[in-house]
Amino acid sequence: MKQNTVLTTTMRTHTCGELRVGHTGQTVILCGWIQSIRNLGGMTFIDLRDRYGITQLAFNGETQPDLCKQVSDYGREWVLRATGTVTERYNKNPKNPTGDIEIIAEKIEVLSVSDVPPFTIENDSDGGDDLRARYRYLDLRREIVKNNLLFRHHIAIEVRKYMNDLGFVEIETPFLVKSTPEGARDFVVPSRVSRGDFYALPQSPQTFKQLLMLAGYDRYFQIVKCFRDEDLRADRQPEFTQIDCEMAFVTQEDILQTFEGLVKHIFKVIKGIDIAPIERVTYADAMKYYGNDKPDTRFDMRFTELTDLLQHRDFTVFKQAEWIGGIVATGCGNYSRKQLDELTDFVRKPQVGAAGLVYLLCLPDGKIKSSVDKFYAQEDLQHVATRCGAKPGDLILILSGKTEKTRTQLSQLRLEMGQRLGLRAAGTYKLLWVVDFPLLEWDEETGRYYAKHHPFTAPKPEQEQELETAPETVNANAYDLVINGTEIGGGSIRISNRELQERMFRVLGFSNEEARKQFGFLLNAFRYGAPPHGGIAFGLDRLCAVLSDAESIRDFIAFPKNNAARDMMLDSPSSISNEQLKELGIMLTS
Ligand code: AMO
Repeated sequence: MKQNTVLTTTMRTHTCGELRVGHTGQTVILCGWIQSIRNLGGMTFIDLRDRYGITQLAFNGETQPDLCKQVSDYGREWVLRATGTVTERYNKNPKNPTGDIEIIAEKIEVLSVSDVPPFTIENDSDGGDDLRARYRYLDLRREIVKNNLLFRHHIAIEVRKYMNDLGFVEIETPFLVKSTPEGARDFVVPSRVSRGDFYALPQSPQTFKQLLMLAGYDRYFQIVKCFRDEDLRADRQPEFTQIDCEMAFVTQEDILQTFEGLVKHIFKVIKGIDIAPIERVTYADAMKYYGNDKPDTRFDMRFTELTDLLQHRDFTVFKQAEWIGGIVATGCGNYSRKQLDELTDFVRKPQVGAAGLVYLLCLPDGKIKSSVDKFYAQEDLQHVATRCGAKPGDLILILSGKTEKTRTQLSQLRLEMGQRLGLRAAGTYKLLWVVDFPLLEWDEETGRYYAKHHPFTAPKPEQEQELETAPETVNANAYDLVINGTEIGGGSIRISNRELQERMFRVLGFSNEEARKQFGFLLNAFRYGAPPHGGIAFGLDRLCAVLSDAESIRDFIAFPKNNAARDMMLDSPSSISNEQLKELGIMLTS
């Protein structure tokens, strides 16, 4: 960033982050917050902080007794305007970029006093999550939080530059839209003018960006807020930001190439990392080898299917299982009983939900010791080891049961082993396109199909005729970008013809009337010249977190909600007055 010239104002000549030995002798004016005050014998020091850094102000008790007395009752977080002379320090502080100098203060003005802050404004603050959330404006003063927001800003700016260079146009779409029965739950907003009616906040600008393609804008993007009323996790917020993109006259390949370029650019300019061509895996293979449609491929540890190898003996657990699969933990053949018990406890946790774990320890002498020695001959176990590619010194972990459930459990165990073995180290980035998602998924509970991505995703053209006859076999040109096991983006080639869109709605259980009521605008639009189109949306909050190896996306949102979807600072959501309710025509019943 340009220094000084742009940052100088009538109130300050420099920032607290820019003065160096080269400025020695200059009279400067700094403004900022008191980070700390230290009184050391005859000298008083104030660390003055602003967004750019910290500069030390020095007051000499002997030569400036009045000034020393003046500042002696100042406290942390007071806002000062300090005038003084830049001086090279006797005791330099190499940890601080301004640590070679200090300001011999000549005049101090108090611009604002502060109560004692409820927690320390330090990276290692003494404030807990709730307290810091309540005083988020103070939390935002901490360097670590500030750096996260600046990091996000840099990514957003780079995205805009890159997209603009490629001819993408940023177009805003509305926030007061219409509730639709697909996807997550909507946040709704009551209408005063049309009493009893509600707007919904958009879960994404999906239909609008498609209409923009119809309107001929051919390359659209938007960095945009989306709203979803879903259960929260570390990587989910009720309002979050997408880098939302759409292109007309493209195939899936064009989209993957274009956005691979964007992602590579971000890694290069933000992290200085050159990303190799991004590998691709089909959804089917991701499920087969990792039990997960967003595998962490920083490490291999693929599943080996063992069903046919292990059902011929009298071990009922395996005999009755629909699917048996194993993973190899390289070099863990010497695991102790305690370590193995820990793994068994892990898979039995309610969040994983397996009944038990079978292990095979491949001993250095080539023999195999297992938890099912009673049921299987050494030869059986050797077959398992050979199929899994396990060597002496390795550990094979096996789970069994219903196919999908067991794959999910083994996937959790795989991630746990990856963690234990340090294979998911921070600072390594493995990117993956997961492609060929199924178009639909069957929901047992409601007894109907749901769109795996969303109802506007097109079936693969060669499978279009099976939409009604074998819906579950139809795949889509739909893709996700996964980084280190987190879904960062997702998109698809869209339906761009009315008849196919109507068929899709029918498969999803909409009557013609319902489809017209909900999505008539889109179906009508398809009558007026719809180009083939497709797109993708990336989660900006998630991208920031993954690039920083951070656990939670909350750290990259200026004013996030907590896990109960509350804004602790605003104390929102909150009740509204009876007058407001009346005006909106809302009656509350308890
Ligand atoms: P999708 O629903 O896959 O696709 O969302 C795209 C990306 O948005 C991010 N994301 C979230 N981030 C934080 N909190 C949430 N609650 C949350 N939900 C989603 C994820 C995800 O990959 N309209 C389509 C895109 C398209 O088809 O072009 C869509 O919204 O990183």
